[in-house]
Amino acid sequence: MRHRVVVATPLVPEARSRLDDDNFDVVVSDDPPANGEQLREVVSGADALVCSLANSVDASVFEAAPSLKVVSNVAVGFDNIDLDAARRCGVVVCNTPGVLDAATADLTMLLVLAVCRRLRAAIDLLETRRWDGFDLSSVLGRDVGGLTIGLIGYGRIGRAVASRARAFEMQVVHHTRHDTGEPGFLPNLDELLVQSDIVSLHVPLTASTRHLLDARRLALMPAHAVLINTARGACVEESALADALEGGRLAGAGLDVFEDEPELSERLRVAPNVVLTPHIGSATVETRTKMALMAVDAVREVLAGHPYPHVVQEAWKTAGG
Ligand code: DGY
Repeated sequence: MRHRVVVATPLVPEARSRLDDDNFDVVVSDDPPANGEQLREVVSGADALVCSLANSVDASVFEAAPSLKVVSNVAVGFDNIDLDAARRCGVVVCNTPGVLDAATADLTMLLVLAVCRRLRAAIDLLETRRWDGFDLSSVLGRDVGGLTIGLIGYGRIGRAVASRARAFEMQVVHHTRHDTGEPGFLPNLDELLVQSDIVSLHVPLTASTRHLLDARRLALMPAHAVLINTARGACVEESALADALEGGRLAGAGLDVFEDEPELSERLRVAPNVVLTPHIGSATVETRTKMALMAVDAVREVLAGHPYPHVVQEAWKTAGG
């Protein structure tokens, strides 16, 4: 029997052709990525769904797809998928951990440097033709060497950021819920916020990390500090962040993710010393190719009844549950 695979997000050709090679019945609905009624309709007879953060896979999608066996997210995060509904419907959910750590850590450092070296102001000077020559006192940023970076979350991406930050001669501290037993571990998040010159988020979005950095916690950061977020927008209370930046209680922010993507808060857009990028942490040809291949391989393995290692639900470590 040919399995029906719905591809609801754009895939690199290599990944698409792996599905064709396996002789699946492939249905593509990726332009724009299917959502709502369109997603429910296209997924109704599907055995597998390949999707991304641009697809909201809520309970109604699972209910509309009684034969669905696997949802494979081309992302390490999976807050776009209702895991409870997946569990209730017996659907395996897979993600793409490991292959995007370097790209995301690189972007994190790019934002650290861009904010500390006031890249936006510098580019603006040229773009608005206001630059009138070399000036010893113009666009002065800060050296990152010697600054303390506080990492919230110390998984693969947090560790990749740590090694890059050390190469820039930064001090690294980190906080996680469980003691890592490693140098720089701070058991108390508030302490990390007080001590750090730069704070960078590397946690998934869950009920307990939503608005992890709220007004109270943001107020613990020193006024010269900078916030970097390449994790998920909703880990930060954006209105409180805008208050802090506008009030000069925070020196700047580098944000790749936003609370209500693709909507961008107007206050953050015009806030002083912010560098904003449109969720491009993993956006390199190499990384996105690896992610797409990994997601497609997950579908192939699960549908073939083979064990697959990157299953989101702990209880579903072997395909088929
Ligand atoms: C992820 O994988 O979760 C990133 O946010 C997008 O690549």
